[in-house]
Amino acid sequence: MDQAEQKRRAADAALEYIEPRLTPNTIVGVGTGSTTNLFIDALAAVRHKFDACVSSSVASTERLQAHGITVLDLNAVDRIEVYVDGADEVNADRQLIKGGGGALTREKIVAASADEFVCIVDESKVVDVLGRYPLPVEVIPMARGLVARALVGLGGSPEWRQGFTTDNGNIILDVHELKITHPADLEARINNIVGVVTNGIFAAQAAHVVLVAGQSGVRRI
Ligand code: A5P
Repeated sequence: MDQAEQKRRAADAALEYIEPRLTPNTIVGVGTGSTTNLFIDALAAVRHKFDACVSSSVASTERLQAHGITVLDLNAVDRIEVYVDGADEVNADRQLIKGGGGALTREKIVAASADEFVCIVDESKVVDVLGRYPLPVEVIPMARGLVARALVGLGGSPEWRQGFTTDNGNIILDVHELKITHPADLEARINNIVGVVTNGIFAAQAAHVVLVAGQSGVRRI
């Protein structure tokens, strides 16, 4: 089974996981990326069973709306029962690296607003120690040099994702060569650098459950 098929199975498993809880009042939070796109496509089949979605990116909003699913502004909803999103890396404590698609800030906001965060990945995303995947950091454009120097001071090797602007009008620095043995500490330290909007470590806000699709089926972390 190839990676694309594993992503589809993870997306289907997420729908199976949340479907029993959907009611006409349910608001579903939706992330961003290729795995989440497959979840959106699966969710379309049950759109009559829930109220609406809150989305973490312009791209996901457009895909949801193309399926006829209502997308609400986060400030217009009182409660998000569940948030479903992919990840770039996952460890055994359900801590994540996210932001490969550049949507990390809105993803973190919607995840923090939800009662439960269900993360969906294929087996290739599971690691012992976070940091093999370059850590995305969203930065206010004028602070690019200042933040890059601070990230070098933390042992990283930042690379400007050229030609890319986030939905919030900012830039991304992808930080290589970080061995993230204490994710919550590093998440807080990077967020404390002036000019950083947020970084892609989800440790303070880890997933509640991770559905991992591999060769032998879907398992839970
Ligand atoms: C988007 O900014 C990311 O956080 C994605 O959730 C992450 O990159 C996983 O994407 P794929 O599902 O495309 O691998």
